[in-house]
Amino acid sequence: MRNLAGKYCIVTGAGKGIGKAIAKKFMEEEAAGVAILEYDLELAQATAKELDPTGEKVIAIRCNVADSDMVKEAVDAVVAAFGRVDVLINNAGITRDKIFHKMTDDDWYSVVNVNLNGVYNLCKYVVPLMREQASGSIVNLSSTSLMGNPGQANYAATKAALQGFTRTMAKELGRKNVRMNCIAPGYIDTDMMRAIGEELLNGMIKGIPAQRLGDPDEIASIAVFLSTDDSSWVSGQTIFASGGAVCN
Ligand SMILES: NC(=O)c1ccc[n+]([C@@H]2O[C@H](COP(=O)([O-])OP(=O)(O)OC[C@H]3O[C@@H](n4cnc5c(N)ncnc54)[C@H](O)[C@@H]3O)[C@@H](O)[C@H]2O)c1
Repeated sequence: MRNLAGKYCIVTGAGKGIGKAIAKKFMEEEAAGVAILEYDLELAQATAKELDPTGEKVIAIRCNVADSDMVKEAVDAVVAAFGRVDVLINNAGITRDKIFHKMTDDDWYSVVNVNLNGVYNLCKYVVPLMREQASGSIVNLSSTSLMGNPGQANYAATKAALQGFTRTMAKELGRKNVRMNCIAPGYIDTDMMRAIGEELLNGMIKGIPAQRLGDPDEIASIAVFLSTDDSSWVSGQTIFASGGAVCN
């Protein structure tokens, strides 16, 4: 029996990239069910079909994590389908990179609304379920950018905020047997990273001790660890995974 047997999981933004790799690994670890809450429904449906052609264990639900009403409906739909939520992976995230003096209000607020308020929205509806069942694990996707990264004042602010949120929630929820942790990836090979362009990317790779981008699978395996009882004594932590680029 694998580690996630019997566990029902939500992964936001799992249509592609790191979220998809997490959903895939959760299925390999025999999760009882995985709900993909995704902005792009067609992408989510294609991913769900790829990971589970039977359609019984992986479900796709359209959800903009920045929209509280939509998140409530999505969590209700997961509970209707699965009956409970054991694991929540707050993975959905966006970038709107610009040097600060060129950053618009829209650049700032759209990133805050998805990366930070999106996590709040999910937790608002999932935490009460986990408190009630007196068990659960929540993992938030932060980033090494929280250490400071030019062009990412908006993004870095949200990813740093997730650390403070996580530490506080870990202390509040510990007595209810609910854990919360962060993963802070360095540069991972996904569309988000590829969007910056080949030349810039090659320069960035030179600065990584491992001399390569990370693979989404290398983040997914940390998500599995933090979601199972293998990490039962770990809460309020941020695991940096950056090929040695950021040593905390
Ligand atoms: N790729 C990296 O190098 C890297 C590094 C550090 C942290 N991260 C973080 O990891 C997470 C995943 O990144 P990725 O590289 O896989 O990104 P990606 O752009 O490849 O995929 C993100 C997914 O989230 C979905 N999404 C975007 N906005 C959404 C919303 N409002 N509601 C629901 N779904 C939404 C997208 O449709 C997409 O499927 C993000 O939180 C990102 O900040 C990524």
